[in-house]
Amino acid sequence: MSDERHVVWQHYDVTRHHRAEQKKQKPCVIWLTGLSGSGKSTVSGHLDSYLHSQGYHSYVLDGDNVRHGLNKDLSFSDKDRIENIRRVGEASKLMADAGLILITAFISPFRHDRQMVRSLFEPGEFIEVHIDAPLEVCEQRDPKGLYKKARDGVIKDFTGITSPYEAPEAPEIVVDTSKLSVDAAVEKIVAYLEKGGYLKR
Ligand code: ADX
Repeated sequence: MSDERHVVWQHYDVTRHHRAEQKKQKPCVIWLTGLSGSGKSTVSGHLDSYLHSQGYHSYVLDGDNVRHGLNKDLSFSDKDRIENIRRVGEASKLMADAGLILITAFISPFRHDRQMVRSLFEPGEFIEVHIDAPLEVCEQRDPKGLYKKARDGVIKDFTGITSPYEAPEAPEIVVDTSKLSVDAAVEKIVAYLEKGGYLKR
């Protein structure tokens, strides 16, 4: 593959299949989407701990953390959120290519962007999980005090208040954290992974 910039794709001998086999897992991206305060990071952390304890090779990319480094130049305008998800999508593809079970925790509010990320992957590699807690619950939890700041006008373009959130129409998994415990949420995702043959130990 070559393009007008004269950039050619380099092939390497160790393929994604070799890496997947070595790790005894089917690499994938478990893409958690939902409002701020819905529980994405909490569920990600517990899922990651469980997979790690079972000998699997997992990793978490978290919106707040990625915005401290790779994406520290991005704001919360629509344009920058789109770029945020584009970069994370590409980083996710690299990590799945490296054989990992990747968990991502980004609000990723726009349906079109999540669809774009899905299109980077083979069927079955992108697992969309809607962390679906009602806005009222997220606002009541307000773990970082951000909803209050958004209501007070201190933060602008805040998802759910002054910036839109487009819920997934056909996610692989829905987890309502206002009804399910964190452990039950993790169990639901693990059950999906087991059924789909992602975990081979
Ligand atoms: S996304 O919309 O571009 O996908 P991302 O997941 O990276 O967002 O970052 C969301 C986190 O940034 C939230 O959990 C919250 O802690 C913080 N944050 C700061 N300002 C905003 C804002 N205006 N809207 C949403 N989240 C914000």
